[in-house]
Amino acid sequence: MIANFVSTLDGVVAFDTDEGSGGGEVSGFFDPDRFVMGLLRTMADAILVGAGTVRAAPTHEWTARRVHPGSRLAYAEWRERLGIRSAQPTTIVATASGGLDPSHPGLSAPDVPVIIVTTEEGAARLAAARPAPNARVEVAGAGRRVPAPKLIEIAGSIGAGLILCEGGPHLIGDLLRAGLLDELFLTIAPQVAGRDEGAERFGFVEGLAFSVADAPWAQLVSVRRAGDYLFLRYRFEKARP
Ligand SMILES: NC(=O)c1ccc[n+]([C@@H]2O[C@H](COP(=O)([O-])OP(=O)(O)OC[C@H]3O[C@@H](n4cnc5c(N)ncnc54)[C@H](OP(=O)(O)O)[C@@H]3O)[C@@H](O)[C@H]2O)c1
Repeated sequence: MIANFVSTLDGVVAFDTDEGSGGGEVSGFFDPDRFVMGLLRTMADAILVGAGTVRAAPTHEWTARRVHPGSRLAYAEWRERLGIRSAQPTTIVATASGGLDPSHPGLSAPDVPVIIVTTEEGAARLAAARPAPNARVEVAGAGRRVPAPKLIEIAGSIGAGLILCEGGPHLIGDLLRAGLLDELFLTIAPQVAGRDEGAERFGFVEGLAFSVADAPWAQLVSVRRAGDYLFLRYRFEKARP
């Protein structure tokens, strides 16, 4: 599994204000970053997101065409050349509560398969809200979490080889805790967001604090640059340097 995030210089991935709370505001909607997001989505069989990320992006759709429309034809051609049978990656959403709006464009586009993975309680709530015909609900957990390996198992059940996780920070925390993240694509945007008591502002991992002894270390696979932005690719390794 790979993940993709954009962060400010000081490690903030969401401003979480009325002016905008998504990755777009963090990257300044920087075209090369949008293009890379589209590339990764083009290669993915499934895109895994948490419900917090879905709720924070009420007009978004987890497709390459949505994130970089100017490249939609090139992406489609490349996906075909890669031999990926589905035209669009399956969107897999993790939610314990089932608190999602089924008419969200990212959950209801007829040609984008969606699997919502939830708890018994979440499934009951979703059934009452009536998911769109392209979306199905899978119960795979109880209480406040679906175990991270279950999410991978469900992606595997639809034949997904490459799973791209686009966050958010709480879901990534669960995946890292379970040792399921292989690679991280991290864009560093050249701005500083800051934090204070009124603005908690997430880093790319939340809800989990590793100790010095068990913090995962990563190996740098590649560094690229566009303007003042850095595009980093890291592979998680078991051993510390
Ligand atoms: N800069 C970037 O690259 C980037 C990327 C992604 C997100 N973000 C930003 O991050 C913010 C959202 O942060 P977040 O931490 O709330 O996002 P999140 O991890 O997507 O959402 C957390 C919610 O997802 C569900 N969830 C996560 N893991 C689960 C599990 N194992 N089992 C069941 N449900 C699970 C739960 O939903 P329920 O509450 O429904 O149970 C949980 O409350 C947004 O502002 C978003 O724009 C930024």
